[in-house]
Amino acid sequence: NSEVFILAIESSCDDTAAAVLHNDKVLSNVVANQLIHTQYGGVVPELASRAHQQNIVPVIDAALRNANIKKEQLSAISFTQGPGLMGSLLVGSSFAKSMASALQIPLIAVNHMHAHILAHFIGEEGYEKPSFPFLALTISGGHTQIVKVNDYFDLTIIGETTDDAVGEAFDKSAKILGLPYPGGPLVDKYAQLGNPKAFAFTKPKVPGLNFSFSGLKTAILYFVQKKKLENPNFIEENLNDICASIQYTIVEILMDKLKLAVKETGIKQIAIGGGVSANSGIRKTIKEAEQKYGWKTFIPKFEYTTDNAAMIGIVGYQKFLSQKFETSAVVSKARIQF
Ligand code: KG4
Ligand code: ZN
Repeated sequence: NSEVFILAIESSCDDTAAAVLHNDKVLSNVVANQLIHTQYGGVVPELASRAHQQNIVPVIDAALRNANIKKEQLSAISFTQGPGLMGSLLVGSSFAKSMASALQIPLIAVNHMHAHILAHFIGEEGYEKPSFPFLALTISGGHTQIVKVNDYFDLTIIGETTDDAVGEAFDKSAKILGLPYPGGPLVDKYAQLGNPKAFAFTKPKVPGLNFSFSGLKTAILYFVQKKKLENPNFIEENLNDICASIQYTIVEILMDKLKLAVKETGIKQIAIGGGVSANSGIRKTIKEAEQKYGWKTFIPKFEYTTDNAAMIGIVGYQKFLSQKFETSAVVSKARIQF
């Protein structure tokens, strides 16, 4: 069947998103960001659920309208089952269930982290798809994983964080520097103007392919506190250099583990995904690794890096082809493995 239309819904954290795909092509991709959390310095789960409830109908309407698709044309509805905030997930799954039931079409559950990886299979001009097997580095606000991807539905986590996710490392560093939430993109912005070698932060010693980022956060906190005693304007006067040095250290930590993963698996195809793959330092360093180490690297289109529903749609499409459907009894899961 070459005429598959999937409506995809993503509501795992603080973005309400909907997309319509025609086979592997994205017809529309709508994201409503919840700005309410900025004033609290982080996502407030209760407020996120409420905002999803307000946004979900207009976001889905917009996705169908932008795609120029009538709901009667849809082949199936895919939604994020987890991982994520339970209250947020429930809004998306309940809506998906009701709509699939009303239209009498299949319902497809999608793992959010699986979607960050399969986002590379969205049909997009100028973007090549990886071939199996490849290594995926998924880096987001909630996860940091190296995954061996053998096939669409055969994935093995070979390394992950033992504490904070890399996005948290960016956001918490930003908070220490007095930057608003989410600080990751701001650290990136200032880092591009600074000297990455200005300040040295020690990298954590974690065995194997696992990561740790909580020590780095503490090191940055002590460093800033000490420097501020000497010069109260230290942050303001050195913001670009501090951000560049933090970003450099984080990228080094990720690259060290990727190099080890390549050595251990013999796989030289690397795909990055998740919100932090929007980071300019990571994108540049990964690209340079093609020349440096003979890797073939895959970086998703910018709008498919941070949370979006197009990636939920591409998993939906693959699951549709394999007839991997759910009954209406399917439940949301705050924690879920592949
Ligand atoms: O994948 P995502 O949108 O949501 C989760 O599933 O967590 O990732 C959000 C994370 C946040 O921590 C945000 O600060 C980080 O991605 N992020 C960045 C950049 N853009 C987003 N971190 C560093 N540099 C960026 N350019
Ligand atoms: Zn995500």
